[in-house]
Amino acid sequence: MPNDARALARHLAHYGITPCASAAHWQARWRAVDPALRAALDATRQPGATRAPTTAEQLRFYAAMAEPQVAGVMYSRQASTLHAIGSAVAALVAGRPLLLDLGCNIGHLTTWYAACGAVRTVTGIDFVPQCIASARALALPAGAAAKFVAGDITQALPAGSFDAITDTHTISTLPDAAATLALVRSALHPAGILVTVLAHATAASTAHFAHALAAAGLHVHKLEFVYGTDLGQTAAHPLLLAAIAQPATRVDIAGGFAAARLPGA
Ligand SMILES: C[S@@+](CC[C@H](N)C(=O)[O-])C[C@H]1O[C@@H](n2cnc3c(N)ncnc32)[C@H](O)[C@@H]1O
Repeated sequence: MPNDARALARHLAHYGITPCASAAHWQARWRAVDPALRAALDATRQPGATRAPTTAEQLRFYAAMAEPQVAGVMYSRQASTLHAIGSAVAALVAGRPLLLDLGCNIGHLTTWYAACGAVRTVTGIDFVPQCIASARALALPAGAAAKFVAGDITQALPAGSFDAITDTHTISTLPDAAATLALVRSALHPAGILVTVLAHATAASTAHFAHALAAAGLHVHKLEFVYGTDLGQTAAHPLLLAAIAQPATRVDIAGGFAAARLPGA
């Protein structure tokens, strides 16, 4: 299957992830979900919370969200963004046989990298056992051979020398990314790459993240923006490609953000 828009849309649809034209459209889809499953997810939320969720809260939230019907509708709020990320990341990892995807959730992007032929073998890791169970159950019908492992990426990564490590919206949300970045550095093949898409990033937080990468011996070679239009709003998500080798020229993060000129960038 090629890394093209139609095939990727079909792949995400297999996970129940399809675009919503508006917030009202998404609300209607959410109301059609089994009320018991909706209540289970709602019970994990912290309405009005002004702090970042604790690890225990995250585990509860993602466990309730791992139910395929719930995950499909929840991820449909960002279907266009996930589509854009899947396409951009697959293009960057193409031809690198062994891939590890961090914070894989139900495996909707993880399996795409194998299904589109970009990589030969893919492993996904997530610390929510319910996500791993759903990822395993959904991968086969999605037509992708992938291995899924339950584990905490701040503690250990699956053994191997990976040609590419991918991460969407996970490492950048960790309270302290240093331990994970050191593990990534050790798990990468010397010529391997890390492709990481940052969550809720600004120019300043992206520059800070690039410093954390460099401190772990991972150097930014490329900054790209991935654009998604979901529920009528367009946002730009910064993507960094880092490697163990130093780049020939320093990547200008502030300049990249200035040129992107969109909300979210
Ligand atoms: C924002 S979701 C992103 C999911 C997926 N990568 C995507 O972009 O659609 C973050 C995922 O990372 C997982 N996660 C968060 N902290 C983790 C940790 N320390 N170890 C392993 N997984 C973690 C969560 O369970 C969740 O599935």
